[in-house]
Amino acid sequence: MKITVVGTGYVGLVTGVCLASIGHEVICVDINSRKIELLKRGKSPIYESGLEEMLREHRNNISFTTDPVEAYSDAQIIMVGVGTPERADGSCDLTYVYSVADDIVEYSQGNPVIVIKSTVPIGTCQKFKKYINSRMEKDRQLSVVSNPEFLSQGTAIKDTLHASRIVIGSDDGDAIRTVREVYEPFGIPIIETDFQSSEMIKYASNNYLALRISYINEIANLCEEVGADITDVACGMGYDKRIGSMFLKAGIGYGGSCFPKDTKALYWLSENQGAALKTIRATIDVNTEQKFIILKKAAKYYDSLKGLTVAVLGLSFKPGTDDVREAPSLRIIPALIETGAKVKAWDPIAVSNFSKLFPDVVTYCRTIEETIDGADICFILTEWQDVINFDISEYASRMKKPIVIDGRNCYAIGEVKGKGIVYESIGRQAVK
Ligand SMILES: NC(=O)c1ccc[n+]([C@@H]2O[C@H](COP(=O)([O-])OP(=O)(O)OC[C@H]3O[C@@H](n4cnc5c(N)ncnc54)[C@H](O)[C@@H]3O)[C@@H](O)[C@H]2O)c1
Repeated sequence: MKITVVGTGYVGLVTGVCLASIGHEVICVDINSRKIELLKRGKSPIYESGLEEMLREHRNNISFTTDPVEAYSDAQIIMVGVGTPERADGSCDLTYVYSVADDIVEYSQGNPVIVIKSTVPIGTCQKFKKYINSRMEKDRQLSVVSNPEFLSQGTAIKDTLHASRIVIGSDDGDAIRTVREVYEPFGIPIIETDFQSSEMIKYASNNYLALRISYINEIANLCEEVGADITDVACGMGYDKRIGSMFLKAGIGYGGSCFPKDTKALYWLSENQGAALKTIRATIDVNTEQKFIILKKAAKYYDSLKGLTVAVLGLSFKPGTDDVREAPSLRIIPALIETGAKVKAWDPIAVSNFSKLFPDVVTYCRTIEETIDGADICFILTEWQDVINFDISEYASRMKKPIVIDGRNCYAIGEVKGKGIVYESIGRQAVK
C-alpha cells in the first residue's frame, strides 16, 4: 500500500521504516528540513538501535520529503506521528495534529484513511474527523482510525516488529479493515475497538506504567528507613504472576517525552471531567520529588557543593536513547550549577542534545574515567551498560573524595563493599 507517514520523530520514522520492511511503499514527510536532508542521505536524525541499517536495507521502499504535495496527493493511508507536547497547564497541545489536518484538507486527493498514531486525549479522533470533513467537499469524506503507538525508545524497532498488540479504534468498519491489512504481515494480535477506548488504552497503559514506577520508588524510600533492600523486595514481588517484574526498578523517577506529559494530560482531562484521578496525581508528585532525592543524599556529606567538582554519569532519560526530554539530568544539573558546583558530565550518545541546552556551563567528557578524575562527588543518572560494567575500584583511585550517589542502582551492594568508596543508592542501605 502507499503510505504517508507524517513526522519523522521516534514514532514516525520507526513506523515508516518498519512498514517499508514489509513491502509497503512509504513516504515520510516532515516540516523539519534538516531531518529530511539527513534522511535523504541515509542518516537518521535520532539514535535508535538498528534504525540506520534498516533505512539502508529498505531504501527502495521509503522516501523522504518536506513537500506536502508530494507527501499527500497519492496516499492510500496517512499515518500521523507528530508531537503532542504538554501545555503550561498540563493539558495536551494538539497544534501539530491540527496543522496536519489542514495539510490533508489542502493537499490530499481521493479517499485516504487517516490513522492517528500520536498520543491524543480521549475524544480527539472524533473531533479531528469532524474538523477535516467539515472542510472537505461533500463527496469526499475521509475516515479516521485511532492506532496508538506503544514502542519504547531504545528498543523501538524490536517493539514495532514484535509488538504485544496493535490497537485499532474507529467508527468505520471499512477503515478498520484497511488498517488491519497494513499490519497483517507483522502477525501481531490486533484489538479492534471504538475511538475513545483506543485512545484510553494508550493513556491508561502509560499511566499505569508510570504509577508502578512511582509506587516502587515510594516503597524504596521506605525500605531505606526500615532497613529493607528494594532490589530483593522488587525481585520477591516480581515472581508473583499477578504482579510481574517489569517496571519495578527503583530509581530517580521516569522522564522522557511520554510518561511526564501523558500523566499530566490524563490528570488534566480527568479533573476537567470532574473525575480527578487521585492515583495519577500522586504518581506525578512522587516522580517530581524523586528526581531530587540524590541531592538530599549528597547533603549528608557536604553542607554545600559550592566550588566542588561534581561528576555526572548519564544525561539521557534512559539508556539506549539520545533523548534528554524531561530527563532527570535537566533538573539536577541546573540545580548543581545554581549551588556553584563545577559540573563534568559524560554520556555515550546524548551529549549533543544536552549541550545544545547547556553549551557553556558544563564540561563534557569523553570517558567515565575523565569525568570522575579529581571529582568530589559522582552522581549516576542513567544506567548505561558502560557504567554498569565500569570497574568500581576506579572511583576510589581517581576521585578526590570517592562518594558515589547512584540514582539507578547500577551496582549490587556486595560488589561495592570493600572497594573504598562511599556508596548511596535508592532503597538500599548506604555503604561507607
Ligand atoms: N517517543 C516515544 O517513545 C513515543 C512512544 C509512543 C507514542 N508516542 C507519541 O507519538 C507522538 C510523536 O512522538 P515522537 O517522540 O515521535 O515525537 P518527535 O518530537 O520525536 O517527532 C515529531 C515530528 O513531527 C514533526 N512535525 C510536526 N508537525 C508536523 C507537520 N505539520 N507535518 C510534518 N511533520 C511535522 C516534527 O518536526 C518532528 O520531527 C507523540 O504524540 C508521542 O506522545 C511517542
